[in-house]
Amino acid sequence: MMKIQLILLVALFGQIVTTDEVNVYTSRHYDSDNALYEEFTEDTGIKVNIISGKGSALLQRLKAEGSNSPADIFFTVDAGNLWKIQKENLLQSIKSEKVLNVVPANLRGPNNEWTAVAKRARVVFYNPQTVKETEIMDLNYEDLANSEWKNRIVIRSSTNMYNQSLVASLIANNGEMKTERWAKGLVKNFARKPQGNDRSQIIAVANGEADLAIANSYYIGIMLSGSAGIEQLEAAKKVKMYFPNQRNRGVHVNISGAGILKNSPNVENANLFLEFLLSKRVQKYMVDKSYEYPIVEGVLPSKEIAGFGLNFIEDQTSVKQFGELNPSAVRLMDRSGWK
Ligand SMILES: [Fe+2]
Repeated sequence: MMKIQLILLVALFGQIVTTDEVNVYTSRHYDSDNALYEEFTEDTGIKVNIISGKGSALLQRLKAEGSNSPADIFFTVDAGNLWKIQKENLLQSIKSEKVLNVVPANLRGPNNEWTAVAKRARVVFYNPQTVKETEIMDLNYEDLANSEWKNRIVIRSSTNMYNQSLVASLIANNGEMKTERWAKGLVKNFARKPQGNDRSQIIAVANGEADLAIANSYYIGIMLSGSAGIEQLEAAKKVKMYFPNQRNRGVHVNISGAGILKNSPNVENANLFLEFLLSKRVQKYMVDKSYEYPIVEGVLPSKEIAGFGLNFIEDQTSVKQFGELNPSAVRLMDRSGWK
């Protein structure tokens, strides 16, 4: 009899212990984040369990686990990827008032299924030795289809979500017909067949293989920090970063973001964790590591990124449109011959 009671107690106790946790599936993970999570545990008593992997692998895992999944939070980059998870009906609406107050509506899912945690701009990098000041002045994404840029531009493949979201933003602002004409013009201006990642495009500009690259802003921060090695540091010093569309809607902005899963076993803890990520102190910590832009006002980006200026105009197009328009963007890029 005693033995059975003991087993029951252990089972009960075990259950109590397991509810004091939050399980985070993330495609964004830095080893240094562990110190941050320990602080969260100290503050709240909630243990943070991190499962990291590629976004697509984590999504497969979530689907395989189904309603038995222990996942509370899904954390990934690009609104297009967050949209994919939302479309699988895997997320619930975020209820935290703190989160909803701090994050602008254009940086959240249609029903708050996900929220931005940091921002990144998809910008232009150019070689000041080969690009004239007059060419870059007041440059818009739209201008990159003009013949003066023939054989001068590098950008990665159309299979990349960052590019799909950029094209989706152009469709949202200019319509599909205009954007298709633009994409065809841009492809004619490629200095080489799309290859490599964002950083390879910046390096190609530094090496003189091309005059202008389109890539995400944080890569120049990583390269300038020296953490990626001397070669990348030297390459980064040779290029300049430029925010397009400053005379009109602003530079294309995308997000890193997170959502709470529909089957989350620890919803309250998940909300607390999102609030934690959006606190001023943690925002500063995160952008110093990732070289992204903060969501919370009054927080500065890393010194490497701040050096490129803080007062630029951001396109306010709702990032959910990047998901909505993703299929149109993909087809359009295909029709335009963007490999
Ligand atoms: Fe990236």
